[in-house]
Amino acid sequence: MNATDAFLSTLVTAPASNAALVNLKNVHLSFGSNEVLKGIDVQVRRGEAVSIIGPSGSGKSTILRCITGLLRPQRGEILVGATRVDTLRTEAELIALRKRVGFVFQQYNLFPHLTVLENLVLAPTRVVGRDRTAALREARELLKKVRLAHKESAYPGELSGGQQQRVAIARALAMQPELILFDEVTSALDPETVGEVLTVIRDLVKDGMTCVLVTHEMRFAEEVSDQVYFTEAGRIVEHGPARQIFGNPSSERTREFLQRSLGEGTRPRNMQPTPPLPFNQLRFAL
Ligand SMILES: Nc1ncnc2c1ncn2[C@@H]1O[C@H](COP(=O)(O)OP(=O)(O)OP(=O)(O)O)[C@@H](O)[C@H]1O
Ligand SMILES: [Mg+2]
Repeated sequence: MNATDAFLSTLVTAPASNAALVNLKNVHLSFGSNEVLKGIDVQVRRGEAVSIIGPSGSGKSTILRCITGLLRPQRGEILVGATRVDTLRTEAELIALRKRVGFVFQQYNLFPHLTVLENLVLAPTRVVGRDRTAALREARELLKKVRLAHKESAYPGELSGGQQQRVAIARALAMQPELILFDEVTSALDPETVGEVLTVIRDLVKDGMTCVLVTHEMRFAEEVSDQVYFTEAGRIVEHGPARQIFGNPSSERTREFLQRSLGEGTRPRNMQPTPPLPFNQLRFAL
């Protein structure tokens, strides 16, 4: 079994343990006088998929950036495993953390002058010092996993947005992270390519990869998430199992948000379907 297979098999067989891999406790963060996170508590257990949903500007990306150590809160604690992220000081400590935490953004930021395969081997060989032959073998396995084996020699500019985003996901996986954060990875994509990226994320979740997803794809969040957090104005309004948040949210605010986000396809529970318009009214309605 090669290193990639071994890594993937640990994902498949690792049971979701009760210990939280990510733990945010009472996190407060301000930009100047603008308090953006007002006491955030989030827990992600190993092997879980957790979605953070909520209106624009509510602090979702800021939460993810705190988990990677890109932002440091003024108050509260952030743990990834046993590491206190909020107290990391040196660049070396932050780099060590980022090897463990993959981060995929809306902008894929692939190196345009490198082929797909070279984009995947760059960090493992340069940052972690992995042997190039092994890194190439692992990169090819990952390209299979994101269904892009046939594109290893292509340059990013020759790929669709959805394909580039799948390369970006494979690149994050190439570092063999303990968890991956996805920040609206489909929101810049052509609607036709959104599905292929979601399929790759769905596969990762099924494999037992610990994932934190910030997404506006509500149906997808409902389908893949173990836990869902709803944020508004820097607070967690409510959280719980996906079925409960989407099926029977306890907060009126969550309910309103979901109705608006899910649009036509949903109606509140117990609400009667709108009766069809009588013929003469229908003419005016059209
Ligand atoms: N680097 C920054 N400097 C100053 N203010 C910032 C910075 N980053 C974010 N903010 C502010 O923090 C608040 C939360 O931003 P954040 O990006 O976390 O929201 P979000 O929930 O991810 O929104 P969206 O759904 O639009 O991506 C916003 O008011 C934003 O303007
Ligand atoms: Mg955001």
